[in-house]
Amino acid sequence: MSLRLGDTAPNFTADSTAGKINFHEYLGDSWGILFSHPADYTPVCTTELGAAAKLKDEFDKRNVKMLALSVDGLESHKSWINDINETQHTTVNFPIIADEDRKVSGLYDMIHPNSNENFTVRSVFIIGNDKKIKLIITYPASTGRNFDELLRVIDSLQLTANYSVATPANWKHGEDVVIAPAIKNEDIPAKFPKGHKEIKPYLRTTPQPNL
Ligand code: BEZ
Repeated sequence: MSLRLGDTAPNFTADSTAGKINFHEYLGDSWGILFSHPADYTPVCTTELGAAAKLKDEFDKRNVKMLALSVDGLESHKSWINDINETQHTTVNFPIIADEDRKVSGLYDMIHPNSNENFTVRSVFIIGNDKKIKLIITYPASTGRNFDELLRVIDSLQLTANYSVATPANWKHGEDVVIAPAIKNEDIPAKFPKGHKEIKPYLRTTPQPNL
């Protein structure tokens, strides 16, 4: 059965470039991002892993542990990392799972046979510090992901986990947010002391509350 938002992220043990990983132990109390790559030594994946490595500090700031996956073996991963480091001018600084037996790809439904029988699509799972799946995105092999967008989504997920707000279209950290419809008008001043605007009764905004 495929995974859905709110499900507990299935645990697994797998070989990775950082040794054997038990996923839940690896996450500990952190958030996590698990992202799959169709195959080693492919151009788009090479740029994606480089882009992700350059943003590790940003993921760390948000207490998010990174974990990549590809269905190739450990030796292949290790030598591919040298190419990534060389061509993307960075150092891959998070583990890559060697999912040769497709165990993790199967568990997370990362192989879409009508797209490609052998390789994973570009799946992204963001997992909260409660081990629940907060976000699932699927990109085709031909389209590299935008890791700045993933950080933006994490900012929204972490904010909305703690405050009764939602983030509007194209929202970025620092911009006004939307007050959750469940909040009654009379409760707004206590909950959002920075003030609010009522554009429509169902569309009320307030400055980002955690700044
Ligand atoms: C790539 O990462 O470049 C790629 C992988 C599989 C199919 C197409 C592109």
